[in-house]
Amino acid sequence: MNIAEPTSAVQTVYLNDYQQPAYWIDKTELEVDIYSGETFVRSRLTMRKNSSIEGAQLDLHGEGLELLEIAIDGEPLSEERYVQGPSVLSLTPETEKFVLETKVRIEPEQNTSLEGLYRSRTMYCTQCEAEGFRKITYYLDRPDVMSDFTTRVSADKSRCPVLLSNGNLVEAGSLDNGRHFATWHDPHKKPAYLFALVAGDLAKVEDSFTTCSGKQVALEIFVEEKDLGKCDHAMQSLKKSMQWDEQTYGREYDLDIFMIVAVDDFNMGAMENKGLNIFNTSCVLASPTTTTDAGFQRVEGVVAHEYFHNWSGNRVTCRDWFQLSLKEGFTVYRDSEFSADMGSRTVKRVEDVSLLRTHQFAEDAGPMAHPIRPSSYMEISNFYTLTIYEKGAEVVRMIANLLGPELFRKGTDLYFERHDGQAVTTEDFVRAMADVSGRDFSQFDNWYNQAGTPELTIVDAYDENAREYTLTVSQYTPATPECAVKKPFHIPLRMGLIGEAGELALTLADEIAEDLPEDNTDRVLEVTQTTQSFVFHNVPEKPVPSLLRNFSAPVKLKYDYSRDDLCAIVMRDSNGFTRYEAVQSLCMAAINDAMAAGEGGRFVLDERLPRVYRSLFAQAELDQAMFAYMLTLPAEGYIAEQQSEIDPQAIYQARSKVKSALAQALAGELEQTYRALSVDVEYSADAESIARRSLKNVCLSYLMDQPSDATLELCKTQFETATNMTDEIAALTAMVMSENAKAQAAAAVALSDFYVKWRDEALVVNQWFALQARNPAAGGLKRVNDLLQHEAYDSSNPNKIRAVIGGFCGGNTPNFHSLGETPEQGGYAFLAQQIQQLDAKNPQIAARLLTPLTRWRRYAPAYSQAMRSQLEALLEMPSLSPDCYEVVSKSLA
Ligand code: ARG
Ligand code: ZN
Repeated sequence: MNIAEPTSAVQTVYLNDYQQPAYWIDKTELEVDIYSGETFVRSRLTMRKNSSIEGAQLDLHGEGLELLEIAIDGEPLSEERYVQGPSVLSLTPETEKFVLETKVRIEPEQNTSLEGLYRSRTMYCTQCEAEGFRKITYYLDRPDVMSDFTTRVSADKSRCPVLLSNGNLVEAGSLDNGRHFATWHDPHKKPAYLFALVAGDLAKVEDSFTTCSGKQVALEIFVEEKDLGKCDHAMQSLKKSMQWDEQTYGREYDLDIFMIVAVDDFNMGAMENKGLNIFNTSCVLASPTTTTDAGFQRVEGVVAHEYFHNWSGNRVTCRDWFQLSLKEGFTVYRDSEFSADMGSRTVKRVEDVSLLRTHQFAEDAGPMAHPIRPSSYMEISNFYTLTIYEKGAEVVRMIANLLGPELFRKGTDLYFERHDGQAVTTEDFVRAMADVSGRDFSQFDNWYNQAGTPELTIVDAYDENAREYTLTVSQYTPATPECAVKKPFHIPLRMGLIGEAGELALTLADEIAEDLPEDNTDRVLEVTQTTQSFVFHNVPEKPVPSLLRNFSAPVKLKYDYSRDDLCAIVMRDSNGFTRYEAVQSLCMAAINDAMAAGEGGRFVLDERLPRVYRSLFAQAELDQAMFAYMLTLPAEGYIAEQQSEIDPQAIYQARSKVKSALAQALAGELEQTYRALSVDVEYSADAESIARRSLKNVCLSYLMDQPSDATLELCKTQFETATNMTDEIAALTAMVMSENAKAQAAAAVALSDFYVKWRDEALVVNQWFALQARNPAAGGLKRVNDLLQHEAYDSSNPNKIRAVIGGFCGGNTPNFHSLGETPEQGGYAFLAQQIQQLDAKNPQIAARLLTPLTRWRRYAPAYSQAMRSQLEALLEMPSLSPDCYEVVSKSLA
């Protein structure tokens, strides 16, 4: 055999270089024999030349595989017939149709990347998306190669009583030496990234679902025995998702069995492998005493997301990884609508928008900015981003809103029908929408291929004599790495006009009032040009514009609202989202005042903010979850996005000052509300109960800002007597986050009691880790280092890494952004050291942790310089993974 030269430089892959594969794999037969310390994988690939591609060379992907046998049509290949590189195996078959057989040896126990086949606690499991299958066997590991899979797994019967793979079980039985096997066949052709295999000692919860056509589907959730009691919520969520997808999209499930397996060591949330979803335990397990309300909602959302992929992702998949948002953006849109239907629509919208504006906008303004359909990448794992997922979902949402529910449904029906069993592109998705509606989506394409967040600047003018009101809308999108000058976007701007007595009817210049619907106070303006004016007729008074209702497009809105305008929107707008937004803008104005006052300066809270809150406290009909969000000050990341130069400590201080001032101004209302909501009611995880707890606990966090002894007692009592994790950890959080000395002392005691109580519940211990990592009190670096030494810490478990290192670097401004005396000290140096250690083990996680450092250019000089020097040091590392290399080098470019 020939050994090819290793390619040292990290390669960039370009969308424009896309070519179909030279071969197809009609059938894939695998035999995976698991032994302690080593696993043998035998593969039989029935292959066929793709006649539309010239050249007969076959390049198979493979990484870290020890090749033991190779044969074509039963004839072993002599060594001069193939070339083996570090990540490809090349050969030139002599016929157009043949069976390629290989046998390789792998070591799942040594696989710390958690990609491919690896071991997690009591089980062997796989993660193949995006390019993990090549760590299992030689293959054409690309999503446009779809194959019929048969998988026979064998292992020791006592160590691995459960043997699973995709599709339906066709055979199982005993073997010699205490071993057994199971053979699974998946009747649906799929790309290798959807392959899964699980072998281990697992218990299961069973249920079933009858589909709309009357087919009975077995539902099984596999967990460690100790977690059997925590599967009910995931099971209920699964059944609701199956029903919702039938009702909302006409999508029926297509196998006899649907399985979910919970795994403790997992790089992300979950994975939609055909018929065998694999989940991070944090996204399946839920029980009231160990899981917060947010945790319950996350389980529901992720179960739905993975289930919905069965159609949007599996039946219709991606041609190449540049199309990732085709399945992820669409599926996030689907799960978001599902959650909205299960709970409160406006609340869900506020949550999604906050996530987008706090984190995706920052990504779009940084060195890793990319369009939702990127045109190049080095390491695809780095592109599972908020842009691909969340912004991708916003783009689908705009299409759905432009079409309206009936046409959108026609569009998705056409898309699923036309492309069932195919690997397609985002253009195919948009084409289906254009075909059913006759709409021109050509300009809309810019959302797919231009990065950056458009800034929508709006100015207005009222002509009293002509009774005309004009909105002039301009769009500008800052340069991003892939493109400096942007073409204008097609932006749906939903709006209304607020008058003294209520909302005004909207008549545009070319419209006749009589032709318009009776309730004509809400409108979508389609902005398509760089600057564009909209003139409204018969406007009886100068209105306050209600703009970007429901956040109708992922843009930054710039309109010069006065605080009185904002108060008018809060009090009079019919749109819940815009009301929330107006409160947030009033908060931003107060935070800006506090920043202008400077660190030692006198800051006086503008009285309009507490006045608005007082009137909201008095509104009995206001949704409590909405009010809880209105009471929550904008996140530091969102505030940072509004600054031309970020001073993280100044942001933190200003936000704290506003919080203290509000706590003082609203003390009476906060305490009264807290007490009213504290009366004991039985725990339930429905939307109304969740809303109630969230409002109560927001009040508590204000009250704990400078608590009286009596308030501190209230908080301790809540902590000690809580019957659910939401209330328990909210009280603990309020103590830990308070800058008050007595509260901090109480927090120390409570934290150690909490650990003693929950030390056997890994997911609770993770929350405990994360909370301490976020503790803003001085000395955070010492504390976070102590956490890394704690008996419960595990440096190979991503959830623990995210809780401690992610929690500290992403949620502890005073300590993470402390610069230290020398470059080796301070939060940035801490992060760089951690990344260096992790990168060798698990590059995907290491690359994710880099995020805060990538934003260095946006910070004030002292911070910026310190971050940059850590990135430069990382770049010097001889063995930096491609994952980290891409992020570090692009950040410094
Ligand atoms: N497809 C999975 C999901 O969205 C996530 C896979 C993430 N893969 C990765 N390499 N980060 O449900
Ligand atoms: Zn997904």
